[in-house]
Amino acid sequence: MTSIVYINGLYTPHRYGMVHINDRCYQFADAAYEVVLYINGFACDEDLHLDRLDRTLEALKINFSMSRRALKMNMQTLLAKNKITTGTIYIQVSRGVAPRNHPFPKDNISPVLVMTTKPVRYDDLLKTRDKKLSLTLRPDYRWGRCDLKTTGLLPNVLSMQEAIDSGFDDALFYDNQGITEGTSWNFWIVNNKRELQTRPLSNQILHGITRQTISEIAKEQNLKYVENPITKDDLYQATEAFATSATKIAMPIKNVDEITFPPDTPVTHALFDAYLKRMFG
Ligand code: PDD
Repeated sequence: MTSIVYINGLYTPHRYGMVHINDRCYQFADAAYEVVLYINGFACDEDLHLDRLDRTLEALKINFSMSRRALKMNMQTLLAKNKITTGTIYIQVSRGVAPRNHPFPKDNISPVLVMTTKPVRYDDLLKTRDKKLSLTLRPDYRWGRCDLKTTGLLPNVLSMQEAIDSGFDDALFYDNQGITEGTSWNFWIVNNKRELQTRPLSNQILHGITRQTISEIAKEQNLKYVENPITKDDLYQATEAFATSATKIAMPIKNVDEITFPPDTPVTHALFDAYLKRMFG
């Protein structure tokens, strides 16, 4: 079955889904995006994702006027048209269409909203709990505003592809303070003091929504939680490492290059289970 996509008010079969060649997302990656997970019809952290979309749009000075209510209604309609109860929605808002010219267009152009869906089998989602990522470290050469969720992801794409070509699943970025994050997820360890440790928020990492929810769960469960840069030395002593994102929830990590973590991942599993419980009881 061909899926239905949403493009600026129109629901159309995926194969006919087209945007203009002068869309500024295509020319300049001048666009914000979000990915929201739905499980059995329950939206996971939907408002937090839409709040972050607003923050990115504001920082990019993209004047997107659709109300939250209307956006959510369109998201629900798209899910229903695609008969999806478990899966993801990809939401992208570009500045709009204008002849290629670096400054913002002087004419009042309208943002272009595109939404697509991806079904996920519930069983497959549960299996992410037991997948284990094999990672390789790569220098973080992304721009200085990684806190904004924009479509300019070329360093992420190239680094992940390099990792795959070298026999790993994905790449883990580092800068002069330590590890920043993965190509599409935040990075955590259980350190040698049995604390959950993740990089403090800054412009160098995306302020992950799953990271935020997992940190709230950790605090509620009285797990010790610290925000400190993670160095390579910390990796040697870690008892667990895991990745968080809307699509991975909390996915265990097997190794980072030559550093292999212990096989059991009780904390990661407990956080994965607690996240699902929190989303739909
Ligand atoms: N990626 N860091 C980066 C660089 C990301 O692209 C993402 C999300 C995250 C995790 O954020 P969240 O928990 O809000 O999903 C961290 C999405 C899933 C993607 O690009 O497909």
